Amino acid sequence: MTGLFITLEGPDGCGKSTQVAPLADYLRSKGRTVFTTREPGGTAISDQVRQIIMAMKNTTMHPRTELLLFLSARAQLVEEVIRPRLAAGEIVISDRYADSTMAYQGYGHGYDRDLVARLLDFATGGLKPDLTLLLDIDAEEGLRRRQSGGGEWNRMDAYQLEFHRRVRAGYHELASQEAYRWITLDGSQTPEMVQLAIRQAVDSRLS
Ligand code: TMP
Repeated sequence: MTGLFITLEGPDGCGKSTQVAPLADYLRSKGRTVFTTREPGGTAISDQVRQIIMAMKNTTMHPRTELLLFLSARAQLVEEVIRPRLAAGEIVISDRYADSTMAYQGYGHGYDRDLVARLLDFATGGLKPDLTLLLDIDAEEGLRRRQSGGGEWNRMDAYQLEFHRRVRAGYHELASQEAYRWITLDGSQTPEMVQLAIRQAVDSRLS
């Protein structure tokens, strides 16, 4: 693999999705070929799986089913899109990736984290990001943003506040376990300030 794999992570409402396009533009302005994607989704098959996961009508979905659906959507994205583009030397930026599964299904739902790690390894064929940007935000503030119109409200948002607090704490733990890969940024700042911080962080990793 000769490309660079960058992921954006964070609790719901952290504002990461609005940061992807300006970051891609910035890197393109430096002459890099950049491809952006998001999870769950990013391929025709993965987008169909996303609809099943997110649909508010699927209230009876068991957390184990949910976990496996996220993994299946990702397996397809990795093989169809991410690996070939990295092999071609591109920068791939993904709005969420495997760390979301560890944060939401591992820490949020409380599944055995060693087991989740093994399943992630299987689903991704061991592909890990080179750099992960964590946009950190208080769980309550993030959900407030979502409720006041920051994106479409979905089945995952509707989990209890306690679930979202565990997700955030999980992200903190993940970032501290692999400090070389993660950069944590304050997601409560204005989008412009967050973008500036992201560009600085990416520049420092690229140089
Ligand atoms: P988003 O597109 O607004 O980020 O919504 C995706 C939701 O799915 C968000 O609540 C995080 C959640 N999610 C998981 O629970 N596990 C995963 O592996 C991924 C990729 C997302």
